[in-house]
Amino acid sequence: MVQKTTELYRGKAKTVYNTTDDNLLILHFRNDTSAFDGERIEQLDRKGMINNKFNYFIMQKLEQAGIATQVEALLADDEVLVKKLAMIPVECVVRNYAAGSLVRRLGITEGLALTPATFELFLKDDALHDPMVNESLAETFGWATAPQLAEMKRITFKANEILQALFDDAGMLLVDFKLEFGVFNGAVVLGDEFSPDGCRLWDKVTRKKLDKDRFRQGLGGVVEAYEEVANRLGVKLD
Ligand code: TMP
Ligand code: ASP
Repeated sequence: MVQKTTELYRGKAKTVYNTTDDNLLILHFRNDTSAFDGERIEQLDRKGMINNKFNYFIMQKLEQAGIATQVEALLADDEVLVKKLAMIPVECVVRNYAAGSLVRRLGITEGLALTPATFELFLKDDALHDPMVNESLAETFGWATAPQLAEMKRITFKANEILQALFDDAGMLLVDFKLEFGVFNGAVVLGDEFSPDGCRLWDKVTRKKLDKDRFRQGLGGVVEAYEEVANRLGVKLD
């Protein structure tokens, strides 16, 4: 049995631990909820458990559809065993409807359907407020190679297809989401997490926000919304 050893990295919402196996890490999902690049952080009871189980459920769905993920095994309510990836510091964002920074940047109406779905890259750097970048910058500064970027884009669009259908069946619109990738034995593998912390989900009929925008915008009922999303998908929480 793999054992947790030393703390490797403490992120805004998860802590990463080394293990007795050099190729494996443990992700601990904390209740910390952060917005505005860590400027606002609050503890939301049960959020760590919900996001861990939700992430495990989604990653399993993606694996079943042929996407390689870092997930190995669910270890506890708030812990998952994962492959140790060399993380690529570029976030991939797909949008199916306009919201968030796209609305601010281009002055378009929230909720506008985007056809085809858009694809954006952001540098993972809180101090710089995760600036938008592109393939050329990523290559030049050595964040990722051209083949890695092509693979990240391919996998992100494939995940969009799978997840749009999954959420649609559960009465939700997948508005947008962010994925992070890493390299394991030379291959690009999906890492980090997929949870309502890193995507936007709206009720299909009422367009009620069911994601971290409830926290960002002070709408309240954050954990209740995350729980509702999990329940609608059939994620077992207790
Ligand atoms: P944005 O509208 O703020 O650019 O975000 C687009 C989507 O990506 C949204 O679902 C939130 C997610 N995202 C993160 O989770 N972390 C990030 O650092 C960024 C830039 C986006
Ligand atoms: N994930 C980033 C943060 O925690 C951005 C956001 O979600 O608003 O600050």
